[in-house]
Amino acid sequence: MSFDYGQTRINTDTKTDKHELEQPRAILKNISFVVEPGKKLALVGQTGSGKSTVIKLLLRFYEPTSGEILLDDRPIESYDIESLHKRIGLVLQDNVLFNTTIAKNISYGTFDASDKMIEDAAQRASLQPFLAKLSAGLLTKVGERGLMVSGGEKQRVAIARSIIKRPDILIFDEATSALDSHTEEEIRKSILEVSKGVTSITVAHRFATVIDSDEIILLVNGEITERGTHNQLLEKSGTYSKIYNLQTQRQRAGQELGEEV
Ligand SMILES: Nc1ncnc2c1ncn2[C@@H]1O[C@H](COP(=O)(O)OP(=O)(O)OP(=O)(O)O)[C@@H](O)[C@H]1O
Ligand SMILES: [Mg+2]
Repeated sequence: MSFDYGQTRINTDTKTDKHELEQPRAILKNISFVVEPGKKLALVGQTGSGKSTVIKLLLRFYEPTSGEILLDDRPIESYDIESLHKRIGLVLQDNVLFNTTIAKNISYGTFDASDKMIEDAAQRASLQPFLAKLSAGLLTKVGERGLMVSGGEKQRVAIARSIIKRPDILIFDEATSALDSHTEEEIRKSILEVSKGVTSITVAHRFATVIDSDEIILLVNGEITERGTHNQLLEKSGTYSKIYNLQTQRQRAGQELGEEV
């Protein structure tokens, strides 16, 4: 995997969407951050705070109304969309699987993927225990009669699909939020493993899943209100630490309840 790229720099003031709203409204304000090569950035914040919008700006689904987004010190508009998207591996909350083999689902979008590359990607995404249960392994068709692909397994296929591209940047947008806490933890470990040494941006509701990030940014109504490492944010005793503590209490209460049942 090559690391000959520079910073991912996002520096945008406002983003308005002119297509769906009659009155354009600012979604992000004064958003500015830099992700150094190989570092992990996390975006956290309430629903509607603008996390996915940051990701969509980076993918050029929208254009910012002011400010700039640089990749390797080059504005992202200077890349054609295809080469920009080739450099970015994306794992979303709900990933689409096609009714074909698991191997083809993994290599989807990477036309020159060899069998060895597909196997490696499956291994790195920890798909092995799932594949071992299937007599045809990677050649099993998804959606074939009798085969159920769980949410967690789907996530692993999506992770394998994103890493086979050998992207410079990995983006996980709520990749674990629809899963039960055990599977969430397993997927979190896989994500940690595959994002080693790769620049990554993770969007999460549950703060516990991103505590090892190099920088965590808390968005409130499209603005950065707190930023730092997990420990720095806890020391601040601000909103981040309040929400984190609440979430941990809730998680513990849930586990205790689970044990009683
Ligand atoms: N295409 C769009 N046109 C206009 N407004 C939009 C569009 N997409 C999102 N928004 C608005 O932008 C704001 C930020 O949305 P965004 O999807 O970035 O939030 P989010 O932080 O990812 O939320 P969630 O945690 O629910 O995924 C919301 O108020 C949303 O209603
Ligand atoms: Mg979102």
